[in-house]
Amino acid sequence: LRIAVIGGGANDEHEVSLASAAATARAVIGLGHEVVSLTVTRDGRWTHTGGGMMTPSEAVEVLTTCDAVFPVVHGVDGEDGTIAGFARMIGVPVVGSPVRAGALGMDKWVTKTLAEALGIHTAPGVLVRPEDSPALPLAVPVVVKPSTGGSSNGVSVVRDAADFAAALVTARDAGTDVLVERFVTGREIDIAVFRDATGALRTGATLEIGVRPGDVFDRTQKYDGTAAFTIPARTTPAEHTEVERAATTLYAALGCAGVARFDFFVTDDGVVLNEVNTAPGFTEQSQVPRMFAAVGLPYVELVGELIAATVA
Ligand code: DAL
Ligand code: MG
Repeated sequence: LRIAVIGGGANDEHEVSLASAAATARAVIGLGHEVVSLTVTRDGRWTHTGGGMMTPSEAVEVLTTCDAVFPVVHGVDGEDGTIAGFARMIGVPVVGSPVRAGALGMDKWVTKTLAEALGIHTAPGVLVRPEDSPALPLAVPVVVKPSTGGSSNGVSVVRDAADFAAALVTARDAGTDVLVERFVTGREIDIAVFRDATGALRTGATLEIGVRPGDVFDRTQKYDGTAAFTIPARTTPAEHTEVERAATTLYAALGCAGVARFDFFVTDDGVVLNEVNTAPGFTEQSQVPRMFAAVGLPYVELVGELIAATVA
């Protein structure tokens, strides 16, 4: 097969997406397929990875020679369904979530509202739009984040009400709508799901992120290699069942395809959904590949399963 792997993207997860896409491309080549490697630049233009610029119509021309598009672009104008929609409009099958799941899952406020309607708990939260009052809407401690961000960009933990205004500015620099949520104390436990070519939902092992008590898994700890992952997470059978149920319920409700990662806090009062990633970090050392490797599905085979689920 000829697979177009797309990385980069016009957002502040650009470098993370380049790393994910490079690893994906190596795996696709390892499967014996041909890779056409494209990068979306920080300012939203198409290039051959490591090569020259392309006009949008040249990009379309290249993509339409491929059997599938494999977008590995985190964040807005990628993960949010933009690339899936683009590929769909030019008639090329897409590995991963379609427009609807990408768009819904990119927005933490929308995800929260949907999850609550399905009986999946989330932290109490308030959406602050640009026209809304800049007053602190919840008692501290709170987490202030762009509703459509990723990789913890623009996220602040506010423990002192006096720091809210600065946190709001930081979040607004990274996205328009801001979500203010009650700080949740619990262990961060993630699980990933994909639907395979037979239509069955497959889950990886759970993964627990080790940070200091009361600390958060921030941008630095995400990418400096210091975070300790425990796979599988140490959960009770009831906690495991609840995490798996919530993740598979949301996967179906959002209309996901391909792999999605669901991030939870396991608290003394039960399981709380943090957020959904329909284009999760995808280097070999990222959470999702490690979660599936732990259940006997190595990275290259996982990539093969995702392609097989798209291209019959
Ligand atoms: N947004 C980053 C890439 C993740 O969720 O893994
Ligand atoms: Mg995310």
